[in-house]
Amino acid sequence: MIIAIDGPSGAGKSTLGKMLAKKLNLLYIDTGAMYRAVALAVLLRGTGFDDEEEVVRFAESSEIELVGEPDALRILLNGRDVSAEIRTMEIAQAASIVSTFSEVRKIMVEHQRTLGEKDSNGCVLEGRDIGSVVFPNADLKFFLTAKPEARAQRRFTEDSRVSSYEQTLAEINERDERDVSRADSPLTIAENSVVIDTSELDLSEVFEQMLAAVRDKQDEVQ
Ligand code: DC
Repeated sequence: MIIAIDGPSGAGKSTLGKMLAKKLNLLYIDTGAMYRAVALAVLLRGTGFDDEEEVVRFAESSEIELVGEPDALRILLNGRDVSAEIRTMEIAQAASIVSTFSEVRKIMVEHQRTLGEKDSNGCVLEGRDIGSVVFPNADLKFFLTAKPEARAQRRFTEDSRVSSYEQTLAEINERDERDVSRADSPLTIAENSVVIDTSELDLSEVFEQMLAAVRDKQDEVQ
């Protein structure tokens, strides 16, 4: 079973995607981490993001691996564990720039399809374009969303590196704007998605809704 989870940053995709993958014993693929790894590769070389061809070369030549169980997933860039390094606000913004480049997206999408098809049991993929582009025929598509204020509040409460609520909200709005307005594969609700607004729900409530949708799907195919 291939399960797609899309939505804006901070809507709970990662936490819920990992929970779902664990519960269903499926592979978990964090596609945002892959764009983040490319952004880190560019920044480590001291290259900016103005030269698109150069960024594409980094995307082509970087070896990005996702290893380990869903709740202990590690991201390797050219063999080095960069799991913590890619979680900064700077990398988040850089990844959102890198992800506007069509050639970079092509390389990432190909890589994601290969990873997603590797396990015959299927997988849970989380990102922005999974249900619309990477796996448009996914068995189940979720679109998780929440008001920007709710997402900023969560980030602010959960991440000790975040300096202020206002700055977090501004960064979330900036990233949302770029993710929904880019020409190639903008963030949209893919056809047949189960849409869940998580603003007023706690984690277990969202998880129950997602599990119920999975069970319905499983009943349908049996
Ligand atoms: O989910 P995240 O915050 O780790 O994603 C980082 C950036 O990568 C985000 O701004 C949008 C981009 N992204 C994308 O364009 N397509 C994906 N499938 C996943 C992430």
